[in-house]
Amino acid sequence: MSKSGTTVVILAAGKGTRMRSERPKVLHELCGRPMLGWVIDACLGLEPERVVVVVGHRAADVEEAARAEFPDAELEFVLQEPQLGTGHALQVAAPAIGAAERVVVTYGDMPLLRTESLRRLVEAQAGASETDAFDSVSLLTAVVDEPHGYGRVLRHEDGDAFERIVEQKDATPPEQLVNEINLGVYCFARAHLDRDLGRLSNDNAQGEYYITDLVGMAASDRRRVVPIVLDDAGEAQGVNDLAQLADVRWQVQLGILEEHMANGVRIMDPATTYIDHGVEIGAGTEVLPCTVIRGGVRIGEDCSIGPFTHLRVGAVMGDGSKMGNFTEMKKSTLGKGSKANHLAYLGDATIGEGTNIGAGTIFANYDGKDKHPTEVGDGAFVGSGSVIVAPNTIPDGATLGAGAILTRDAGVGEGEVWIGLPAKRRGPKK
Ligand code: UD1
Ligand code: MG
Repeated sequence: MSKSGTTVVILAAGKGTRMRSERPKVLHELCGRPMLGWVIDACLGLEPERVVVVVGHRAADVEEAARAEFPDAELEFVLQEPQLGTGHALQVAAPAIGAAERVVVTYGDMPLLRTESLRRLVEAQAGASETDAFDSVSLLTAVVDEPHGYGRVLRHEDGDAFERIVEQKDATPPEQLVNEINLGVYCFARAHLDRDLGRLSNDNAQGEYYITDLVGMAASDRRRVVPIVLDDAGEAQGVNDLAQLADVRWQVQLGILEEHMANGVRIMDPATTYIDHGVEIGAGTEVLPCTVIRGGVRIGEDCSIGPFTHLRVGAVMGDGSKMGNFTEMKKSTLGKGSKANHLAYLGDATIGEGTNIGAGTIFANYDGKDKHPTEVGDGAFVGSGSVIVAPNTIPDGATLGAGAILTRDAGVGEGEVWIGLPAKRRGPKK
């Protein structure tokens, strides 16, 4: 089966009313990345010819966020306005599908669905031969304990063949007992869409164009319809409200933590460790409980982080460095073997190698209006309780005594020792 020849259509036009938020549902964040980012990532794993995202509510914001996340990907955005149903969404997307032989349809609010499952879906559609693939459709299904609200997958009584999908609202009581659900994820032959998309009608309980009717048409024409049952129904968890977002966030988080652990990072307590997408951590590093590490942070090998540490945007830790309990770092570099063991804030600081940042040190980087940088050299010693007002420089080997307040651009020389509190009235007495 060739991997090319596939276009993926992601339906993401809905408002997500139940999120009770102004933000479009698919832009809610999961571990440092919008939900839609995780979905697009899984789709790109198929190496499709292109990805078409159907947008509606706050379309420009959704497009901007997705493009920012994948600057190099071939993404197309199609506006669906008004939104007349899932089948209508696909009709609107059709002109953007290009020359692809097959079309995978998935949702922007199903971020746990893995590339491997989409690949199984595509392989099932492609079948064993070209004749198989010409007109067939495959769909993902799952067997769940609580099927309420989903379309049910009905199979023929003799054998296991697909019969049809019945929506919750149209299902009879016995049909409602069926616990195999339609996930709304399909792989259609292009020929199928060309022929049937225009035949959809909105003559149903919700007055919407249903994508599921395409599957119904294929089945009643006795074309090949292949349901693929997910091994792990959890992958199909959709996000409709903030509780589901939190649930899914935890699953995404666990995936990220497991990847780091597989790379040799010791994470003592996954339940209280928050590491965003896109963090680099070297082997042999330990991450202690109640620690938050934001996207883009880079951490070397054999470091120690936490407990209760917050590494924010632009934090870089060299090999063997240490950020101990109750410490925070932002847009700062801590050189090899350097330590900030207790209660410190490192903001806009570049710190060399083998330097000690004492307990309670604050890099006062903000003057109320602008942020300013501080440089600390190699082998320097910053005593406990110091406040370093930026901009400033503490050269190699310099020492700051405990409790020192270093005013901006103090002019500390290499190897010098500075102590004391310079706080005094500025200007005439008032
Ligand atoms: C659909 C399926 C149902 C399946 C369920 C799985 C149909 C008719 N039914 O039902 O069998 O069990 O998904 O979740 O398809 N969307 C658009 N444009 C639209 C309408 C929807 O982009 O005009 C997007 C929504 O943003 C949403 C997704 O498509 O992410 C699903 O739409 P929704 O109306 O929620 O379909 P369901 O009723 O859940
Ligand atoms: Mg739905």
